[in-house]
Amino acid sequence: MTLYECFAADLLCDRTVLVTGGGSGINLAIAKAFATVGANVGICGRTAERLELAAQELRGLGAEVCATVADVRDPEALENAVSRTVQQLGGLDTVVAGAAGNFLAPVEKISSNGFRTVLAIDLQGAFHTAQASFQQLKDRRGSILFVSAPQAHLPFDSQAHVGAAKAGVESLMRSLAIEWGPYGIRSNSIVPGPIDGTEGLRRVSEQVGLDTWTASTALGRCGTLEEVAAVAVALSCPLGGFITGARIDVDGGLALCGSGLFNRARSGARAPLL
Ligand code: HXC
Repeated sequence: MTLYECFAADLLCDRTVLVTGGGSGINLAIAKAFATVGANVGICGRTAERLELAAQELRGLGAEVCATVADVRDPEALENAVSRTVQQLGGLDTVVAGAAGNFLAPVEKISSNGFRTVLAIDLQGAFHTAQASFQQLKDRRGSILFVSAPQAHLPFDSQAHVGAAKAGVESLMRSLAIEWGPYGIRSNSIVPGPIDGTEGLRRVSEQVGLDTWTASTALGRCGTLEEVAAVAVALSCPLGGFITGARIDVDGGLALCGSGLFNRARSGARAPLL
């Protein structure tokens, strides 16, 4: 049995989702999971070629697709992505704020622009996504889902910029649950741990190796794209109807085990630089 067979094939057949950063990785996996259960799918991202390939995959799953080139740092580009999605797909029920940027660097080596860039993509981009979608979500009593990261809750060496950005995303998620709850809009986050085959894991495994990450989970393994995407669907369908303001860790127990193994490996790897 595949994970998606846990859901009815027409579970979200009259719904539309928009996924930022939906051209690749976890965000594309989420878009594909929604397509698999019948939703129509909007995706946006920075690279037209990548979006087109993703759109073809999503159409192959039976979804109507609207792909828009948009950088989440640009609020007008986000508004355009939302209005194109609404025009072409007939509305908007769920927004997934997934676009993110990351690199490994210790605080003393991050330029002001480097720090700002990650905050602008992850945190300000999430804010732009929420604001651009508000009217549609209000009209449809929809939901917003943020793709967060363990760095929001645990201090990881060389990830201060990401931790600051994602902690802000979690705070925004809770504020929206309070402010938009009266409109029937739900706001939640998922926190993927180490997920196989992602650019994020490739970047944070540099120098420390993958084993450090698997040993940092209670389950002793990486997660799969489908395991994250299935939770996104569950939170966005009636199963999640009374869940708002919640952070759901999809991390194999990483939050319990902590960042100590990574931090020791990372500080050992960069010690010669000091
Ligand atoms: C120090 C760096 C750097 C590095 C970039 N910068 N890489 N500083 N170390 N390795 C600095 C640059 O020098 C520049 O500052 C500033 O950041 C902006 O860089 P640009 O390349 O001009 O920005 P841009 O093209 O917009 O790229 C954004 C990016 C990039 C964040 C820097 O890495 C990116 O686009 N990433 C997207 C893909 C990605 O990161 N996916 C993983 C996300 S998920 P100056 O001062 O020189 O101008 C994730 C979760 C993992 O990470 C969780 C695992 C458990």
